[in-house]
Amino acid sequence: MKKETSISKASATKGYLTGKEIRAIAKANKREINRLEKYKNRRAKLSEFTSEMKNDGNILEIEDLHTYFFTEQGVVKAVNGVSFDVPKNATVGIVGESGCGKSVTSMSVMRLIQGPQGQIYSGSIRFSGAGDNEVYDIAKMPVHEIHRIRGKQIAMIFQEPMTSLNPVFTIGQQLDEVSFIHFPDVTEDDARAKSMEMLNLVGIAMPERVYKAFPHELSGGMRQRVMIAMALVGNPRLIIADEPTTALDVTIQAQILDLLRELKDKIDGSILLITHDLGIIAEMADYVVVMYAGRVIEKGTVEEIFHNPMHPYTIGLQRSKPTLDSDSDTLFNIPGNVPNPINMPDHCYFKERCDRCTAKCSGDYPDMIQVSPTHFVACHLWGKEEQNG
Ligand SMILES: Nc1ncnc2c1ncn2[C@@H]1O[C@H](COP(=O)(O)OP(=O)(O)O)[C@@H](O)[C@H]1O
Ligand code: SF4
Ligand SMILES: [Mg+2]
Repeated sequence: MKKETSISKASATKGYLTGKEIRAIAKANKREINRLEKYKNRRAKLSEFTSEMKNDGNILEIEDLHTYFFTEQGVVKAVNGVSFDVPKNATVGIVGESGCGKSVTSMSVMRLIQGPQGQIYSGSIRFSGAGDNEVYDIAKMPVHEIHRIRGKQIAMIFQEPMTSLNPVFTIGQQLDEVSFIHFPDVTEDDARAKSMEMLNLVGIAMPERVYKAFPHELSGGMRQRVMIAMALVGNPRLIIADEPTTALDVTIQAQILDLLRELKDKIDGSILLITHDLGIIAEMADYVVVMYAGRVIEKGTVEEIFHNPMHPYTIGLQRSKPTLDSDSDTLFNIPGNVPNPINMPDHCYFKERCDRCTAKCSGDYPDMIQVSPTHFVACHLWGKEEQNG
């Protein structure tokens, strides 16, 4: 990896890659991809991909996760050492600007990172909700073992419901199909009964009609309800919702958020909610993880993040949020850009945009400091003296 870093640093100063550098990157990528693909496709004993939770109160523990894309220009460290927990029966919100690694984090949990270019490079994703008393380390699971968790105990709801539904099959056919995949012994009648139950659960008033309908016959809000029904068929303990309301208009948005909140209690599970909208986080989340350029820069309870934000980026994000009582009609925008993901600096990634930086900020990337049992921040403004209070 060292070799690529020096290549990309050199190219950053002159702004282009020489033929020699391109060949060196391709060679290094090939070597890493081959190694990681071999690891994914290995035959492994159960003990090689099971683990123990650090805290039994958690359903998911992500620790030092690195997910990379090996591109022709160099290695994109889309997720670069991310750690956070999802407690049982809680909603955890991940927030951050577009491109900061929210979706790549959630796709890593689902093991949906598109290879061979995209790879989980290192780290752990411990999951304790599989219902068989095992704690699986999803990051270490071989490909042929992933059926133990994907879509069943962990389900995902995506942003755009139309592209996730197949236009040529009815809603009923697509819902029944999910039962057939997860429960191979299920009869057609049982699958239909389960589909109707799920359509009822997500608040669809005339489930028989919707069951027979094609996706194009439904509104955006109805389609998102169907997608949520589909996610629920496998009885998941963790729902990952990636910008679930971004494509919907405001009133429908509120209804879908209400539905997700109700469902969390009905399924007795947890939600990992990904959004760029702090308003949604404030309304829905118990805990908040703030990401910037592939890293977690602050995390804590929703009260800590909203009432005592400590990282200049979190403070900036909150100022960017429009409020009804604000005097100005212009939004506060954090000036500047996120650094090039192939050439991340050695110092704090937010330095070029930060209005509070000091001499220390040109030094090493700041350590994550614990300021309360639940509140953590990575910024040089907060040193060891703030730790634990
Ligand atoms: N297939 C890919 N190839 C290369 N880079 C990618 C790929 N998918 C995502 N990335 C990069 O990973 C970073 C994080 O993306 P993403 O997780 O989608 O951001 P968001 O926070 O908006 O969900 C971005 O810099 C993006 O360019
Ligand atoms: S470490 Fe320095 S540059 Fe980075 S956010 Fe904190 S004050 Fe700003
Ligand atoms: Mg995204």
